[in-house]
Parts: sequence; C-alpha cells; structure tokens
Amino acid sequence: MIKFARPIVNKRVFSKIKGIINKGIFVHGELTNEFEKKLSSYFGLNNEKLLSTSSCTASLHLYYLSIGLTENDEVIMSAQTHVATAHAVEACGAKPVFVDCELKTGNIDIEKIEKKITKKTKCICITHFLGRPTDMRKVNRIARKHNLKVVEDTALSIGSKIGRKFAGTFGDAGAFSFHPVKIITTGEGGAIILKNKRDFLLIKSMKSFGYDIASPNKRKIPGSYNVNSFGLNYRMSEMEAAIGIYELQEIQKKIKIRRKNYYYFIKKLQNLKNFKILEIGSDKTFSSSYYCLTLILNKKSKSYRDRVILKMKKMGIQLSIYYPHPVPMLNYYKKKYKYSKNNFLNSSKIAYNSISFPIAPHIKFKDIDYMVKQIKNIIG
Ligand SMILES: Cc1ncc(COP(=O)(O)O)c(C=O)c1O
Repeated sequence: MIKFARPIVNKRVFSKIKGIINKGIFVHGELTNEFEKKLSSYFGLNNEKLLSTSSCTASLHLYYLSIGLTENDEVIMSAQTHVATAHAVEACGAKPVFVDCELKTGNIDIEKIEKKITKKTKCICITHFLGRPTDMRKVNRIARKHNLKVVEDTALSIGSKIGRKFAGTFGDAGAFSFHPVKIITTGEGGAIILKNKRDFLLIKSMKSFGYDIASPNKRKIPGSYNVNSFGLNYRMSEMEAAIGIYELQEIQKKIKIRRKNYYYFIKKLQNLKNFKILEIGSDKTFSSSYYCLTLILNKKSKSYRDRVILKMKKMGIQLSIYYPHPVPMLNYYKKKYKYSKNNFLNSSKIAYNSISFPIAPHIKFKDIDYMVKQIKNIIG
C-alpha cells in the first residue's frame, strides 16, 4: 500500500528516549527547552518569541485565550481549513466567520476579507493551505487598517516563506502542528510564535495551568505555586521534544524531497485533461513546503470523486481529502450558524471534487510512476 503518510523519524532518537526514561524527567525538562531554542533559531527568532505546545489546536486556543476572545467577538478565517481553526474560536465562545477560498490555490480569497469585517471582528486567522503561504503583507495591511489581530495557522506549512521571511512570523501569532502527517512531527505536538512579550509570558504560564512558576525545579519551596491566570495543560512532553530535535535537523532535507516529488509528479501529469492541479508550487515571491499534490476533478460530482478514492484504494494507493467539507458545511457549524453552501463555492469545489496524493519523503519516484499509471487508468 502506498500510504498517504508514513513519518520517517531518525532512529538515533531511541537512545535519547531511553535517556529520558532512565532519568525520569518527562515534562518541564531540558529537551523541551532545547527544542524551543532550536526551533527559534530555525526561524531566526530571538529568545522569548516561541513556545512548544501540545498541538496546533492548543496553540490557537492559547492565543485566543490570551487576547481575551469572548462571545461578543468574531474571527475571520477561510472556509477551506481544518475544523481546528474554527473550533479554537468556538472554545472561547466566539464566532468564526468564514470567507471563501481561491479556486487556484485553496488559500483564503483576500479580496473578500474586508466585506466580512464588523464591529465584533477581533482577529483574522490565515490558514496557509497545503504548504503554499498566503500573501501576509496584504493581510497585515487590512488588519492594520481595521486594528485587528492576525493569527497564522501554519499547521500544514512549516518552512514555507514569503520573500525571505517564514510563514508564521508575519502575524501577532503563528501556530504550528507536529502531528504525524505534517512536514515534521513530534508524535502529537505544536508550537506558537508570538510577536509581543506580554503574549509570550502569558501563554508560557497559560500552557501550564496559569502557574506563576511552571517548572517544579524552579520553585523555592517544592510543590508550592500560585496561579495568576486561567490556564490549561497544553505542554509538550520531553519524549515529543526529543523527536522534534531530530526532525528539525532534517526539515530542509524533507522539504527538498517533497519539492522533487511534487515537480516529478506534475511533469508526469502534464498531458492529462480530466482534472486541474491545485497550484501550491513556489514562485518568485514565495516558497512552498509542498504538503501534498491535489487534483480537482473536472467531473463535478462528489460521488464520482468518492468512487475514484475507493478505486485507488483497491489499487493500493491511500489518498486523502483536504478538507472533506468546507468548515461552515460541517454538521456542527451548519446547524449552529445556518450558512449556505452558495457562499463557499470554491471551497465546496475543492472539498467535494478534489483528491490529494502523497509526496512526503516516504514516496519514491517509482511510487509516483505507479500513481500516475492509476490516474490514467481511473480518471483518464
Ligand atoms: C490547517 C490546520 N490547522 C490546525 C490543525 C490541527 O493541528 P493539531 O492536530 O496539531 O491540533 C490541522 C490538522 O491537520 C490543520 O490542518
């Protein structure tokens, strides 16, 4: 079976994990600090800008908690994103407001953002879709004009850049995921980059229940702490951080393989006509981190698309869908806010007519040749 994802983690991590077990320090340890330092240096950031977390969802939720997002607030986001982008807003009792995406890239249609801004809008959350970053300069211009915060959901796009600057470093906050299907993994895990020190210090405490002194070995009287703010347990463990340290050493290599696979794949698909390829490749203004290869089928029928996925599965190819519904069309959001599908035509086309192929480092050119052969057989 050609799997959609199969994380390849450096085996040297085994001895590190053995060391953690022998030492008996599983949280609040040196490796989490080391991972945070190394990740900061990858992004070219100074101290006190980046924190590890337990997931991208946790990162988003922590940021919204830190700015005091409540039921009177709205956050604008793309309809074409993972449900976590919206759930993090819902978790604060606030309302996600959805904007359709561009059909060409799957990124939010920036031209449609301003129309959705109301007195209640507090924030714009940008999902960088499938490794291709959104034009953050344009987004920041809109945000400055309306005095809004900007969050970047960079779950799928660590390593992508706009100009020379990494996606996730343009907004007030950038959230990252290290789930096993992502560009690099820590098992489960995440990180958050913060522009200002106040947010950094507050979130540092909030990811550990709001403790005044989070790390037990920094407390003068063992076991004694106070709580200065609301908080949750959104920490990364030492085992996860150990995996992350090795993954970071290989991030450039991993993105390079993805890039090679992507261009090899699209070259082989050149003369085929029954689909369009979602454009996530780099150009002069940005570089992609190449999450997957997505085809939008010309035949506009969800049941046809689903049949294609099942036929591919039969032929030993595991596909995925990014994402299976526009978020406002998911049962929970549809019931609650009564959005109409007609407002999200591009997102619907991608959600209901697309299929995504793997291009991660476990994929070899011979796998791509096989996938192309099956595309020719099944889609034509
Ligand atoms: C755009 C986006 N945001 C957030 C998430 C959630 O990430 P995590 O599983 O780390 O919470 C995902 C997961 O796939 C995602 O695709």
